[in-house]
Amino acid sequence: MKAHLVSNGVYCLHADIITSDLFEGIWPIPDGVSLNAYIVRGEKTALIDLVRDWAGAPRQLEEALSSIGLKFSDIDYLILNHLEPDHTGWLREFRSQNPNAEILATAKGINLVKSFYKVEKKLRAVKDGDTLDLGAGKVLSFFEAPNIHWPETMITWDESSGTLFTCDAFGSFGALAKFDKDNGKDRIFDDEFSPEEHAFFEKEGLRYYANIVSSFSLFVEKAVRKVDNLEIKCVAPSHGLVWRQNPKKIIDRYLKYASYAKKGEKEITVIWGSMYGLTKAGVDAVIRGIEKEGVPYSAHRIPDENVSWVLMDAYKSSALVLAMPTYEYAMFPPMSYVLDIFRRKHIYGKKVLRIGSWGWVGGAKKDYEAAISDLKWDSIESCEWQGAVSEADLAALEEKGRELARLVKNQ
Ligand code: FEO
Repeated sequence: MKAHLVSNGVYCLHADIITSDLFEGIWPIPDGVSLNAYIVRGEKTALIDLVRDWAGAPRQLEEALSSIGLKFSDIDYLILNHLEPDHTGWLREFRSQNPNAEILATAKGINLVKSFYKVEKKLRAVKDGDTLDLGAGKVLSFFEAPNIHWPETMITWDESSGTLFTCDAFGSFGALAKFDKDNGKDRIFDDEFSPEEHAFFEKEGLRYYANIVSSFSLFVEKAVRKVDNLEIKCVAPSHGLVWRQNPKKIIDRYLKYASYAKKGEKEITVIWGSMYGLTKAGVDAVIRGIEKEGVPYSAHRIPDENVSWVLMDAYKSSALVLAMPTYEYAMFPPMSYVLDIFRRKHIYGKKVLRIGSWGWVGGAKKDYEAAISDLKWDSIESCEWQGAVSEADLAALEEKGRELARLVKNQ
């Protein structure tokens, strides 16, 4: 692994994480993720963001540093844009190799340096507009960007190269090495990837946004406004592609993703669980109705499909179909989990149809209505049936699918 020259004096060091671990202990990353860090060299040397000791990341970083003649002990400043341990977990080891580097973060970030890592010395809190002069014309500026993705976050700006170091913002799942494992290439820049490869990172970017960032969409819009007047030549996030050819593309894409928090695309996400196929029969009828109206949809069976992908499509869609049987006087448990995630991720403002069957006694309806009470959803009348679905109910369910699809078309 070598360092990649981004611009004069600016290098990207990246670690490809190929693992069966879950990201944040929750989200699957079957195609891995990359952890990017950056070197900015003036007369002094700054390292922006770090890694955690995960799938060989510190060794990959060390190799990349070595390729430009540096060691961790050569770093004068460690800038921590965000304290989540994927970017800082190796901090104590870094400190043991380099007791002299000054660590810069926001005031909230410095508190986390102390509480997470018990590092107390050579810490500097920075705030909006503060600068760090590295000499030789390299001056870094800091912009507080709270909640992308936790409250202490900031963005670092190198005016001389036009590079914006954004940590989680503008990132994606998917290891940069996904397409290069066997071809000897080591690519990181947007202009180095084919349209098909971009399509992969776009999808993984949306899943990353929905899983990690979607609760904070208002803050994404605020942060983009804050850097709107900068002449950005390169967006350098700490996950995923480095955007030097078309930085505006990823900024605009993130603004579009942020807009889904208010209004999704004209498509429907069908989320269903079924114990013995009785609820499934109703789902099929609703889908026939949606298809007759020609509205795009995706369908996810739970718990077979992980909530990570369910959340991605639900966040992007303007409407949902939720289908679940009653299970022990309440909702089918996997749907309770999905709705809990939706509440935590602020999946608001959707048009929703709920359907489902019950066998011995109902209960899903009451449980469901309590679960969604604060989600600000626009629900059409639900449909429940006992046992096998009747021909009359099938016709009604197909019509409900059409009704929801027409609402989506006319939004
Ligand atoms: Fe990539 Fe919020 O950490």
